[in-house]
Amino acid sequence: LPIVVLISGGGTNLQAIIDAARDGLPVDIRAVISNQPDAYGLQRAKKAGIPTAVLDHRDFDSREAFDQGLAALIDSFQPGLVLLAGFMRILTPAFVRHYQGRMLNIHPSLLPKFQGLHTHQRALDAAEKEHGASIHFVTEELDGGPIIIQARVPVLPGDDAEKLAARVLEKEHIIYPLAVRWIAEGRLSLNGAGQVVFDNQA
Ligand code: GRF
Repeated sequence: LPIVVLISGGGTNLQAIIDAARDGLPVDIRAVISNQPDAYGLQRAKKAGIPTAVLDHRDFDSREAFDQGLAALIDSFQPGLVLLAGFMRILTPAFVRHYQGRMLNIHPSLLPKFQGLHTHQRALDAAEKEHGASIHFVTEELDGGPIIIQARVPVLPGDDAEKLAARVLEKEHIIYPLAVRWIAEGRLSLNGAGQVVFDNQA
């Protein structure tokens, strides 16, 4: 399955996908695209021999113009699936519709709890006993699309945002490759009614 991965930062989730592909995940990572020229994830891609591209949103005079340029760049690689992995941009409805059912995102919370930013601190402030990460199909609702898989971690006494984030990140690196595997193997998809369909027999 040809995929394109979008990043903005460190790219540890990208690295998990790269490592999984090396170990047999049936994907062909066609390109890694970042909106941040200095994203460390670009170095990870280069080390793995994966083509990289930077589309700096500061070079565009509107969100729509950036998203149109981004879609054209993504489509030039003809991916069957697009992964947002630490991609810190809010996408326009037209862009999201264009990739409906074939774009995933990872969000560091047990959605629908804590959509948006600073999820670990917010979970601590809310005295949550559990926290985690979610892989979901991208829809027009920010951090709100149909959920594919979630991982839970305990919130422990003495946790601060950094400790909790590290515990969640470990799980992210397990569930993201697993969600991609299910789609690459044709076992999971999003139907026309926006429901996640899992076919265990496929
Ligand atoms: C992680 O918290 C992830 O959940 C979110 O961005 C953060 C960094 O991810 N998507 P990465 O290390 O850049 O993959």
